[in-house]
Amino acid sequence: MNRNTGTYVITTTLSESVRAFVPHPLPPTGPALASGVYAELNRQAELALARLAGVSGLVPSVDWLLYSAIRKEALLTSQIEGTQATLTDLFDEEAGFKVSNTEDVEEVTNYLRAFRLVQGQLRDNQGLPVSIRLLCDAHRLLLDGVRGAGKQPGELRRSQNWIGGTRPGNAAFVPPPPEHVPVLLADMEHFIHDDEATELPPMVKVALIHAQFETIHPFLDGNGRIGRLLIAALFEHWGLLAEPLMYLSGYLKQHQAEYYRLLSAIRTEGDWEAWVTFFLEGVCVAAGDAERNIIEVASLVAADRKRLLQSPKAGPASYRLFEMLPMMPRFTIERVRQQLDTTFPTATAAVKMLEDLGIVTEMTGQKKNRSYSYQDYVELLSR
Ligand SMILES: Nc1ncnc2c1ncn2[C@@H]1O[C@H](COP(=O)(O)OP(=O)(O)OP(=O)(O)O)[C@@H](O)[C@H]1O
Ligand SMILES: [Mg+2]
Repeated sequence: MNRNTGTYVITTTLSESVRAFVPHPLPPTGPALASGVYAELNRQAELALARLAGVSGLVPSVDWLLYSAIRKEALLTSQIEGTQATLTDLFDEEAGFKVSNTEDVEEVTNYLRAFRLVQGQLRDNQGLPVSIRLLCDAHRLLLDGVRGAGKQPGELRRSQNWIGGTRPGNAAFVPPPPEHVPVLLADMEHFIHDDEATELPPMVKVALIHAQFETIHPFLDGNGRIGRLLIAALFEHWGLLAEPLMYLSGYLKQHQAEYYRLLSAIRTEGDWEAWVTFFLEGVCVAAGDAERNIIEVASLVAADRKRLLQSPKAGPASYRLFEMLPMMPRFTIERVRQQLDTTFPTATAAVKMLEDLGIVTEMTGQKKNRSYSYQDYVELLSR
């Protein structure tokens, strides 16, 4: 492929002169992206998403599935960044248990806050559309707290940055000089909202936009995570999946070297096609993984529910507790008491019932401050 995807400008930073890349606006031209490259894969990806949307009906509440899917995406996108937190840490933090790696968990919960902000705005008729402003607002939440301070949360960068290497001179990639960033982002925003501009299918546009965003690298830090949040935002904007049940970051993490290499190849070889192909394959794989996981969760919960219903001693409090477990997989008796809005003895009895049936297990082995886990479920989600 011999396509020119941008120009180089000389920029001086840290008293070195380096070539910074300024991408052309989307869509790719000279030549345009050939439909032969993406048509069939795009169709397969759409099918995979339709199947995923279909299996969500297997459980009584799609909120159960969203609870874990959104957290998995938050975790995996943060793991690409290097954050060392697990799903169990997240559940524990929500249960009010002590977690050792508070800063890592904070990074993940910040992503969750940023995601909720974006989803809330997009679903609100009066809310912000997919826009630079919305991404800046999300960035402010993402970089809130210990690690983000000093990285200009919520603001476009005002200095030159680089990717890979110890200084601009030996970097793998030098993004555009800061004065170019607002214009480049405005072009990108225009591409998102100008439906007449191109015949490309929405999912292909998402692929292009993510890569363009990473190439612009508009923030001092958090570009990967905001760029992946932008993928979710665009899936929502174009109605590609009614609910965010897919965690594409799992695929990106698993193929991280290729992910980065293909982003680079757009710049160095003009190869938009390889990136779009990789992205659409990723959607197929990620949607398939999410679908399988939902089926496994649904059958685990159904089997456990059956055991509970068949148990002669089980009562209403234990039924109500059981239905809460998918969104409260780790808990104390006090938390159960609050959630069920009941007395301590009733909460204790409900937990004991589920413990006797082997559905939940006590984790501390202590007499006091006991904590419980719906362990099979946690393990299924953590796989
Ligand atoms: N060669 C490249 N060209 C363009 N973009 C790249 C390249 N290599 C990596 N990237 C993008 O830059 C991101 C890293 O940027 P940054 O550190 O600002 O983001 P982050 O969210 O803090 O970290 P991470 O993306 O590692 O989670 C990568 O995730 C990837 O999306
Ligand atoms: Mg980073």
